Amino acid sequence: MKHLIKFSIFTIITVIFCYCQRNSNSETKLIPPTSIEELGKLLYFDSILSRDNQVSCASCHKPQFAFADNTPVSFGVDSLKGGRNTPSSMNLTSRSMYFWDGRAETLEDQVSGPIENPAEMDIPLSEVVRKLNKHKQYRAFFISVFGKIATKENVVQAISAFERTLETNNSAFDNYMNGSDTIHFSAAAKRGQIIFNEKGKCFDCHFGPDFTGDQFRNIGLFNGKDLNDSGRFSITRKLTDLGKFKTPGLRNISVNRPYMHNGMHKTLKEVIEYYNEPDKFVSNSINRDSLLSKPLNLTDKEKSDLEAFLLSLTDKQFLK
Ligand code: HEC
Ligand code: HEC
Repeated sequence: MKHLIKFSIFTIITVIFCYCQRNSNSETKLIPPTSIEELGKLLYFDSILSRDNQVSCASCHKPQFAFADNTPVSFGVDSLKGGRNTPSSMNLTSRSMYFWDGRAETLEDQVSGPIENPAEMDIPLSEVVRKLNKHKQYRAFFISVFGKIATKENVVQAISAFERTLETNNSAFDNYMNGSDTIHFSAAAKRGQIIFNEKGKCFDCHFGPDFTGDQFRNIGLFNGKDLNDSGRFSITRKLTDLGKFKTPGLRNISVNRPYMHNGMHKTLKEVIEYYNEPDKFVSNSINRDSLLSKPLNLTDKEKSDLEAFLLSLTDKQFLK
């Protein structure tokens, strides 16, 4: 009898021990964050934010491509295909709206979009919160960083805080402008800057520190047929908004290909050819901006100078 009791106690302890071991082993060891931004970074790279635990923000916003994707459209849970090109999520701090059609006004508003989108992470934010609080390490991280367990609000706050750290200002162009390096901004890039501002009319839409005026414009990629994403119109239902998209910033543009809301241009050369004569690519566009009504007639040298300028906007530091 005594032996039997001893044996039973031993078995129970062993079972409990194994169970605890298994549970702690199923969590990969994470580096404890010391700030809200660091916690946000952990979340950004963690597929715990998706229904099938397979997709993280960084699955589509890949750091080596300026936090954009290198395919025309990305794939979410169950390998579902998205409808638009994944934009860079860098240099967004000063933006006044988010997504190609501007449907979110703050980074905080934007975060729940991909998490709950059926073609992206496909999970209610409340379910993410539940998973995080069941996860031993995340539960402790939220308590240490926020003083309480995960909530919808602090999950969103942490991810947006991380997104706000993704600012770049160390490109050849920046260093030339602030006088710290006059060598790496080439003569071709200097000529290209003038074309960007004048003959190319790029500056009319791509202005300001991040090369975007934060406006919705139609560059001619909507024809209601094979190009049928109506852009801003889908939000406002105003006919004047047909085919308008958010003017994207151009920092780090050399690594952010393919380009445009539908990823239709593979290279910057192709983008320049497009602007030079949009009708060669899309002859039946609807509501195209009057700035693009006539061909630019850029010479081959002007095109390559313009490309050199665009290439000078890349900050190589973050690529490491
Ligand atoms: C399956 C791919 C995918 C995943 C996963 C994904 N995104 Fe995105 N992201 C996109 C696409 C596509 C868009 C553009 C959608 C649109 O404009 O309609 C976008 C847009 C954005 C934008 C707006 C950028 C701008 O210039 O307006 C931000 C910011 C962003 N995502 C952050 C995130 C965060 C944070 C996560 C994780 C919580 C995430 N994304 C997960 C594909 C993805
Ligand atoms: C009328 C305003 C306007 C003008 C002029 C203009 N752009 Fe744009 N640009 C936009 C808009 C809007 C988009 C997004 C269009 C879309 O996806 O349908 C865009 C997209 C781009 C992209 C792709 C960005 C990305 O992340 O996919 C590049 C590169 C670019 N423009 C460079 C230029 C250059 C170079 C010029 C001058 C030759 C120029 N733009 C002139 C408004 C403009």
